[in-house]
Amino acid sequence: MGCQYYDPCQSGANTFTIAMPRLTFGRGCLAEIGQRAANRGLKRVALITDNHLRSGPIISAAIQSLSDAAVDCAVFSDLVIEPTDECAERAASFLDKGKFDGVISIGGGSVIDSAKAALVLHRAGGKLLRFFAPPIGDGAAIEAPLLPHIACPTTSGTGSECTSMSVIRVAAHNTKFVVASPLLLPDEALVDPACTDSLPATAVASTGYDLTCHALECFTAKAYTQHQKIDNTAQRQLIQGANPWSELIASKAMQIASEYLIRGVNDRSDTEANDQLMWGATLAGMAFGNTGTHMAHALSYGITHLMSDITTPDYDVPSPFIPHGVSVMLMAPSVFRYTAAGAPQRHMEAASFLGADSKGATPEDAGEVVAKRLVELMRGSNAPNGLQASGFKESDTKSLAASAFRQQRAIANAPRESNLQDVENIFDAARSYW
Ligand SMILES: [Fe+2]
Repeated sequence: MGCQYYDPCQSGANTFTIAMPRLTFGRGCLAEIGQRAANRGLKRVALITDNHLRSGPIISAAIQSLSDAAVDCAVFSDLVIEPTDECAERAASFLDKGKFDGVISIGGGSVIDSAKAALVLHRAGGKLLRFFAPPIGDGAAIEAPLLPHIACPTTSGTGSECTSMSVIRVAAHNTKFVVASPLLLPDEALVDPACTDSLPATAVASTGYDLTCHALECFTAKAYTQHQKIDNTAQRQLIQGANPWSELIASKAMQIASEYLIRGVNDRSDTEANDQLMWGATLAGMAFGNTGTHMAHALSYGITHLMSDITTPDYDVPSPFIPHGVSVMLMAPSVFRYTAAGAPQRHMEAASFLGADSKGATPEDAGEVVAKRLVELMRGSNAPNGLQASGFKESDTKSLAASAFRQQRAIANAPRESNLQDVENIFDAARSYW
């Protein structure tokens, strides 16, 4: 590929795979949902959403569009933000009873990920735990065919409409894990930025952090050539590392985050920012669906496991709750200060796409340059100042690190290796940033 980052390694992969749903993007495109479903031959669909959206204009417009196209639908909305395996099992039972020939999910990542998990259980029956990788689950294979799935994001961060993964909180362990299979990739996505116009600033900030970190983690992930070569294509990991395709789109997503994140958060009437952030989230989703994230996401799961007595304004979720994007961003400056030493030049390039001031900086400064720019984005969008401002004490470091260290597949996708002590140090350095 003519790029040093992808130089071949002994026993490393020399090919990469790109998976994508058929995707329609643009303001107003959700109005096409009826025709899109009918064109696929769907006659009766389950519309999966959440209780907040269910009574609002987005869902009523979608139901009207389906009705106009003579597609029957029934709505399931008994889901929560940060859905558990129990939520997915309830949604699967709804699918079991409804005689549906397809699923439409309309919502944030929680809704789309719940729909993916429900589709698996509707096909296979039983408990979702079977499908998580050991030691959490049995690593059971997901069987084809799943019902057709059209995914429609209503937030500018998740990217789940473009990925073959479902992130679900396992109730028995009180933390999030990933179910992954090429079969989880939605067949079609409708990405309509108008859905984000009514989001409060806190949600735009959180989802904007998520898109920023998806892009930055993809760009700086270990190269696919350093992942193990596989002989059986069915065994190719979805976390396959950085590759020239995801580099291309992750770099654009970082430029969008740099230019529009603070604008979109601070002026909710700025529809140009909403459009751009939705496009950035889509690009970042396409990137991480074909690369995998790494340490900022992996370590954020320690936060969501152990948070206590904290809520976030504008989110109708009981304590304890920290939005996914905020938990990832809380770790990001500290993580990239650490990972930069594994790929300094690559981090310098990322810093430049993020709009960082790198005048006079050398590759040894890469971590600091990236971290400084991330902190600027945090401060400009009213993020909490590190773990301390999010209710964590110094004495929580060891348990945060022990919890996050279980996310080995994502940690192994980072450009620098780490042991438990390194992860503890990264948590310690995330206590406050300014
Ligand atoms: Fe994420």
